[in-house]
Amino acid sequence: MAMTEFLSFVPIFSDLQPETLEKIEMIGSRRSYKKNDVILMEEESGTALFVIITGKVKVARTSGDGREVILTILTDSDFFGEMAILDGFARSANVVAIEDTELFLLQRNDFMNLLRDHPEISIILLQELTKRLRAADIKIKALSLKDAEGKVATVILQLADEIGKIKQGKVEIEKLPLQQDLANMAGTSRETISRTLHSFAKKGLVELEGSKLKILDYEKFKGMFI
Ligand code: CMP
Repeated sequence: MAMTEFLSFVPIFSDLQPETLEKIEMIGSRRSYKKNDVILMEEESGTALFVIITGKVKVARTSGDGREVILTILTDSDFFGEMAILDGFARSANVVAIEDTELFLLQRNDFMNLLRDHPEISIILLQELTKRLRAADIKIKALSLKDAEGKVATVILQLADEIGKIKQGKVEIEKLPLQQDLANMAGTSRETISRTLHSFAKKGLVELEGSKLKILDYEKFKGMFI
């Protein structure tokens, strides 16, 4: 796919004219990362904004003793790195490739000029940041108020939104993250993840097949736990 065609599918650039997309292609650059490469580190200063061309990354924070909480997983056409660019403070989290990943980079000044020249980008950016704040609110509620089932269900629903596909009325997550990663997303242990997923399967709420998970009735599942 040509770069301008790819850029036209990126939500924050989707309202722009072809000439502007060509300009963005000219001022940006591409960079490839291998699975497990660290792309950004918490506390570094920020100089660029990134858009995922292909691949997947996890956004995570770590504690001094090496424990990790995964805030979100981002995939094709998602952007990251906007926070340090916008407020000038340090990177708020680590971003690590969880698959081989190709990124499109825009330097801070170029991105800020684009926002000034094309306010329509700012509107979509604000909508996406609002969506992320809503997701973070759901996560805070799950971490502070919910029992193990509620925490695990919240993570499954979050993944369904981020990487799920609707197939024959069921929401399918093709490749569930490793159980330890799920535990780090849910703020619980690997054993609890395993136990709870099997209990959901037994109750007929989900189907598990290797690393594939299907939510059999998405609305019902959401209604039970969110
Ligand atoms: P920045 O702080 O520059 O670098 C880390 C990036 O991770 C951050 O920008 C956001 O793009 C992304 N990020 C941080 N927290 C979240 C979150 N809760 N949900 C989605 N993305 C996030």
